[in-house]
Amino acid sequence: MKIQIINGPNLNLLGVREPGIYGNSSFESYLPQLRQRFPDVEIDCYQSNNEGRLIDKLQEVGFTCDGVVLNAGAYTHTSIALHDCVRSLPCPVVEVHISNVHQREAFRHHSYLSPVCLGVICGFGLKGYELAVEGILNAKCGV
Ligand code: DQA
Repeated sequence: MKIQIINGPNLNLLGVREPGIYGNSSFESYLPQLRQRFPDVEIDCYQSNNEGRLIDKLQEVGFTCDGVVLNAGAYTHTSIALHDCVRSLPCPVVEVHISNVHQREAFRHHSYLSPVCLGVICGFGLKGYELAVEGILNAKCGV
C-alpha cells in the first residue's frame, strides 16, 4: 500500500507561518508520527510552491499509488488546472486543510477540488492527514 502526500504553496512554512492558525509543528516533525501510525503503508511526501510542479507530481504518482492526500493550499480556491488533473486520476484523492477554511475568509469557502475528491477533511490540524490516510484505507480495503 502506497500513499502520497502532496502539500502546496506555503506549507513548507508550517511551524513558523501563522502558528495561531496552523500550529507550531513543521510537517517534517509530524511525519514520523504519521508513518508510525500506519506501519504497513508506504507514505511519501512532496511539497511545492509551484502549481505546475504539483500537477506534474499528481500525474507521476496518480496512476500507480493507492491514494493521494492533497493539501493544495491556496490553489484549492483558484486552480481549475488542479481540478482537471485530480479528475483525470484513477486513484482516490482526499483534500485536506489544517485550518477550518469555512470559519475563515469567504474566498476560502470555495474549493475547485472538493467535487473531484473522495472526501474533504478540514479543521483538525495536522491530525487531518492521519484522518485522510484512514479514509483512503477505508475506501480501498474497508479498514
Ligand atoms: C490551507 C487553507 C488554505 O486556504 C490556505 O491558503 C493554505 C492552507 C490549510 O491547510 O488550512 O495555504 O490549505
